[in-house]
Amino acid sequence: MQTISDTSAFLSAALRQPGVIGAVAPSGPALAEVLAAVVPGRDKPVVAELGPGTGPVSRVIGRRLPPGGRHFAVEIDPELADRLELTHPDVEVLRGDAADLGALLYGAGVRQVDAVVSGLPWSLFPEAQQRAILEQVCYVLAPGAGFSTFAYRISTPTAGGRRFRALLHEYFEEVVVSRTIWRNLPPALVYLCRRPTVDRTDA
Ligand SMILES: C[S@@+](CC[C@H](N)C(=O)[O-])C[C@H]1O[C@@H](n2cnc3c(N)ncnc32)[C@H](O)[C@@H]1O
Repeated sequence: MQTISDTSAFLSAALRQPGVIGAVAPSGPALAEVLAAVVPGRDKPVVAELGPGTGPVSRVIGRRLPPGGRHFAVEIDPELADRLELTHPDVEVLRGDAADLGALLYGAGVRQVDAVVSGLPWSLFPEAQQRAILEQVCYVLAPGAGFSTFAYRISTPTAGGRRFRALLHEYFEEVVVSRTIWRNLPPALVYLCRRPTVDRTDA
């Protein structure tokens, strides 16, 4: 559950950088559960989370992650990154741009991950940025690993939202769209993607 302090930290980041945060409130528990369902519940999986913000999805990932698993979170906003490190000591926070995902993980000694969970505001990104990040996601996913991400229903008909959905189908053989999660502000849906079409050597 997000606290009042989480919400105020989120709002302050949204006011500071509206084009980077791209939301009016942190994800609610129902959305976080669907996003985190891609995290394997066995063995010692390595998970990369993109854009953790104040950590509502990080919390659910942490609950699912079996002992010995590792949870990396890439956050571009320095204040949110600092805060996440304090509030989620089990998360290995990587400060930087999701477009550098491969290099950030490599710097932490990791080449492949068993799941990528995204909280990024994709519909705000220009196509080149959407492609750059999706290429990195494809590059780091281990064979059989899944990628989950969300879109606000309100943004799916926009040019950025439609282009992002088309790109998901270009970059992944399988794209499964969830039901609408109405118990979220605003209502959202989740895309669950597997089997990248981009070869590791192409990225
Ligand atoms: C819509 S908020 C979602 C936050 C959180 N995952 C949630 O569900 O409440 C988007 C988050 O992505 C981060 N972000 C935006 N662009 C990013 C980028 N290129 N690389 C890493 N993080 C980014 C923002 O700073 C913010 O924390």
